[in-house]
Amino acid sequence: MAAKIDMAKFAKFCKDMGFIYQSSEIYGGINGFWDYGPLGVELKKNIKDAWWQDMVRNPPPGPDGQEIRMVGLDCSIIMNPKVWVASGHVGAFADPTRKCPGCGKFTRADQLWAILAECEWMNSLMQMFTPVEGKIDTSQLMKWAKGKGQKLAPNLALVKNPEVTLSWLATRVNGQPDALPTLQELTQYIATEQLHATGLQDPCPACGAPLGEAKPVSLMFESHAGLEHNEESKVYLRPETAQGIFANYRNVLDSTRLKLPFGIAQVGKSFRNEVTPRNFTFRSREFEQMEIEFFCHPDESMKWYEYWRDLRKNWYSTLGLKSTNLVPREQGAEELAFYSKGTTDIEYIFPFSTDPQELEGVAHRGAYDLTQHAKHSGVGDKFMYFDEDRWNNDAAGRTTNSFKEWMKTNPSEAEIGKYQFTPHVIEPSAGADRFTLAVLCEAFTEDTVTDAKGNKETRTVMRFHPRLAPIKAAIFPLVNKDGMPEKAMALYRSLKPHFNVFFDDKGAVGRRYRRQDEAGTPFCITIDGDTIKDDTVTIRDRDTLQQRRVKISDVRAEIEKALTTGV
Ligand code: GAP
Repeated sequence: MAAKIDMAKFAKFCKDMGFIYQSSEIYGGINGFWDYGPLGVELKKNIKDAWWQDMVRNPPPGPDGQEIRMVGLDCSIIMNPKVWVASGHVGAFADPTRKCPGCGKFTRADQLWAILAECEWMNSLMQMFTPVEGKIDTSQLMKWAKGKGQKLAPNLALVKNPEVTLSWLATRVNGQPDALPTLQELTQYIATEQLHATGLQDPCPACGAPLGEAKPVSLMFESHAGLEHNEESKVYLRPETAQGIFANYRNVLDSTRLKLPFGIAQVGKSFRNEVTPRNFTFRSREFEQMEIEFFCHPDESMKWYEYWRDLRKNWYSTLGLKSTNLVPREQGAEELAFYSKGTTDIEYIFPFSTDPQELEGVAHRGAYDLTQHAKHSGVGDKFMYFDEDRWNNDAAGRTTNSFKEWMKTNPSEAEIGKYQFTPHVIEPSAGADRFTLAVLCEAFTEDTVTDAKGNKETRTVMRFHPRLAPIKAAIFPLVNKDGMPEKAMALYRSLKPHFNVFFDDKGAVGRRYRRQDEAGTPFCITIDGDTIKDDTVTIRDRDTLQQRRVKISDVRAEIEKALTTGV
């Protein structure tokens, strides 16, 4: 797991440093929306740039050592709403949701127990007894119900009618003394007032009232295009970038004359009206995705699925996520979409949960999306692909080289499918904000360092991979005299066109180091008296704290080396 972090303290640190702010905070914020500050925007940009560079411009060779063909797109957020009917989002992009009759709030049904485990009243109640030993101290529960419970969970059965609620619990405990209720069962008991009439109830995480039945609630954000606001003008903010790629599949093929296999990539905003946005930016209502649709021959699709699954997992490690924190999870048959031959969720152990959480899904989507769009848009067989190379390669032994003529010989479906087919798709779909959060969590470290006077002090240091670090190097004149500021400024200006660098001539050098450690700057470069004499500078390494002297003319190459090698 990424080192245990107090998430509230961590969010405050992110705000204080300018990584992430709550959106519209001066108006009390808005649930599920976040802003990136000056350091955060650089970090997230570096992440998106690294993805684009490594996946689109310079992907590694494919499974057989051949070059991979990749191109990019930048599609509109609002598309013709028929796109979302064809993709299935209008009909079925919904989460099971339970409404609270007490406070009116909604909770995602499939995450209820995880949300309850984090909620304030549950955590306060947990302190009343020791679940590890299975002890249930009803007098403590009564005390809580009459005290803190009144404020924290006013609609909980235990708070509204403790005597009756606890009597049900006592009957259960006395009835089966050898099998004490689990935490979940206990929670249901304290949420239940009329056991015989209702059965055990599940409490609302906000107020404790028994929750209603689960119903699907659409995650699609709606708006209107044009001045009229009616059914005809209704549009959706895209919930994923993928559909823009499918809708443009034919355009890309025609304008680039690409041949299979090839991939189309897109980075951009997506919007989902999440029922319960939570865990800082992890589940937001507005977020950015980095998606690839890789089109290939159906016969080769499993090979490409495995290629992308392994490539994508390794990519996270090369950018600093410890492989022990990365857990690829192959979905079981019961979880797979009906059209999918395989899907792997690349999960990361975030510090806010012991269960690994999804960073990215790599899905084999078969021909589902292209077939759906062909059907709904009326383009018919325009999405069919004719594999000319394969056709020509297999020419030997055929009486004709015309596909049309050959079709008259009544070849089998399988034979035709070798040459003419709807491509299969492998979709690696990553979240830029989720990866940014994982990078922030993984980098966050508190350690002890010794200052120049030998005193020990605690420092917070963001151990970003140099390639992702918002600032690559900070340049300090040791003192503001003897030609040092001028020399430092000249170095700063020479590096600025190549990297995001920072000039700082304010305060003691020790304090300047601390500020850069917190920003995650890998190198601090100091111009001192010797620089004036011999044109050398000290480079201090953020992680090892070691200082070495290098020629001023070598500084740029030193930084470049670290961006490639990570050290
Ligand atoms: N086109 C496939 C697709 O959108 P998904 O698993 O729903 O698949 C892909 O989303 C990725 O987008 C996730 O792995 C996650 O990184 C990111 N993502 C999805 N919903 C998100 C949310 N509410 N907040 C932040 N990131 C989200």
